[in-house]
Amino acid sequence: MGLKPQVNELWRYIGENEVNAEAIGDLAEFKRGQVIYRLTSFDVRTNGVRYLKTLIHNLAGRLGPESWERLRRIEGREFGHPYSVTYDGEPVCLDYLRAVSDLEFMEKNVDLDGRRVLEIGAGYGRTCHTLMSNKDIVSYTIIDIPTTMALSRKYLRTVLSEEQFGRIDFIPIDEIEESLGSARFDLCVNVDSLAEMSAETFGYYLALIAERCRYFYTNNPVGKYMDKSLDDHARGEEAVARALDAGPLVDVIDIDDNRAVREQARKFVVAYRPDDSWCCVADEWAPPFTWYWQALFQGPAAGR
Ligand SMILES: C[S@@+](CC[C@H](N)C(=O)[O-])C[C@H]1O[C@@H](n2cnc3c(N)ncnc32)[C@H](O)[C@@H]1O
Repeated sequence: MGLKPQVNELWRYIGENEVNAEAIGDLAEFKRGQVIYRLTSFDVRTNGVRYLKTLIHNLAGRLGPESWERLRRIEGREFGHPYSVTYDGEPVCLDYLRAVSDLEFMEKNVDLDGRRVLEIGAGYGRTCHTLMSNKDIVSYTIIDIPTTMALSRKYLRTVLSEEQFGRIDFIPIDEIEESLGSARFDLCVNVDSLAEMSAETFGYYLALIAERCRYFYTNNPVGKYMDKSLDDHARGEEAVARALDAGPLVDVIDIDDNRAVREQARKFVVAYRPDDSWCCVADEWAPPFTWYWQALFQGPAAGR
């Protein structure tokens, strides 16, 4: 065996430039930089899509048959070209995995068929799309700011049938009282948005829910964080300040510590209860993001 292993061009380059005594230093930070990105993981600064797809793939692999059914019923969810993976022949993106998970939590605790739903802050409409595709929803009312509503209106018109779209009412926030009139709803849904509103607006919506709804589903962050390593404060320090100030829960916590999140979730359940006459039916961590919690509240009108 006269042959000796050789260092190829790739590893010669790495050895000369990236993994060597100088780069390793005193080992204090070597798991956070170029060295580790050549040895075990991908550069976190440039591989966001890779990590996102890895997350989606792993979540898809855990879906049970009924969850797959719920996801398949949501036709047109690839519209808008999301980052997706293909799992067992089915395109899967994170937004709809989360929406199906939200639906399953709601369904476990309240019968959704034949119900009138109110959603506050619908984004592009994934939750509405998911509920309308899976349940016999009688009417679906969206309250949102006009700028975002332009998107949900256009998106939902595209992905839903004409008949389904016809069951949706869009109400901009400056027309709430006159448009709602005396309307009542079985369920109010709020996903990832009350925590981004001012304390006054948050209070306004809780009062509206207490007055007009029988159940309330919320899925929102339990608090704030200041870990700059997560996003390098890419939107700037002013954006960080704006985010820190919004919503009912402004305590800064370690959002990657599950016990800290669980502890803070007690405050979440108190803060999101529409009023003292309402009770929390169920609450738990809302996967996959570490610091989101979900809860379903039942009002006194639910028994009637
Ligand atoms: C982060 S997005 C979440 C969207 C959607 N729920 C989702 O999870 O895909 C926040 C939503 O809250 C809406 N929003 C912001 N301020 C609002 C307000 N004062 N009243 C109602 N909706 C508001 C935004 O327009 C947007 O639709």
